[in-house]
Amino acid sequence: MERIVYLDGEFIKETEAKVSIFDRGFLFGDAVYEVTAVINGKLVDNEGHMIRLQRSCSELQIALPATLEQITAIQKKLIEVNQLNEGGIYLQVSRGSAGDRDFGYPENVTPTLVLFTQARNLLNSPKAVKGMKVITTEDIRWKRRDIKTVGLLAPCMAKQGALDKQVDDAWLIEDGYITEGSSNNAYIVTNDGVLITRPLSNDILHGITRKALLELAEQAQIQVEERPFTAEEAYQADEAFVSSATTFVWPVVEIDGKTIGTGKPGSVATKLRDIYIELATQNAE
Ligand code: PDD
Repeated sequence: MERIVYLDGEFIKETEAKVSIFDRGFLFGDAVYEVTAVINGKLVDNEGHMIRLQRSCSELQIALPATLEQITAIQKKLIEVNQLNEGGIYLQVSRGSAGDRDFGYPENVTPTLVLFTQARNLLNSPKAVKGMKVITTEDIRWKRRDIKTVGLLAPCMAKQGALDKQVDDAWLIEDGYITEGSSNNAYIVTNDGVLITRPLSNDILHGITRKALLELAEQAQIQVEERPFTAEEAYQADEAFVSSATTFVWPVVEIDGKTIGTGKPGSVATKLRDIYIELATQNAE
């Protein structure tokens, strides 16, 4: 069935939504995005995504073409018209089109706002049960990974490199330490039960799911250490997992061909996934 999507003030069929060839999102990757999960037709943790959207735009001097309240109303309308029960909403703001190609930011252009829904199985995903296999690969991305831009070729290359090796995803390494997954934050649990994840900086995306999980971990009296970790440390860990809006928590059971822990999803990952989903379902709007 054709989806109804949103483009610059209009709710239209996906085949009818057209963006200029001069749009700077298309020419320069001059655009930012967000993905919000949807459970039971409701938005999960959307406020956090809206705040990060605002920050990404402000770092790049892109003026949001609608208020956050208006954007949320668009998200809700799309859920309704597409009868989306479970999945996500993709949202992209590009700087817009100046009718030609020039590097400097053009003046007086209206940003392009696009949103569309994606139906997905979030709660009963097979990866949550079986866990994923990852490889490590060099992090060749730019140095402002805190800005959620659509310039995602390096993560696409990393992900495809993983798929070519018949595994599920790649963990990225910089200066000997894991930064994050190709499109998720990365964690390990040490043999004495300490949850380790890289601290926030420009090296990683400040995950909205990460923020919620770290709060939940503290409440569940899981000791958390925000510090970089190496692949070697990860091989020896009891557990590993990733988080994002599209996975919530997915256990990682193999890294670079080495089995992690028992080779089955670990208890910390499973517990955090369960309590995150419970809370997210309760608080979804
Ligand atoms: N990716 N790190 C990277 C590089 C990401 O691309 C993402 C999200 C995350 C997790 O962030 P959050 O918990 O706010 O979703 C971390 C989205 C889902 C995507 O690109 O589709």
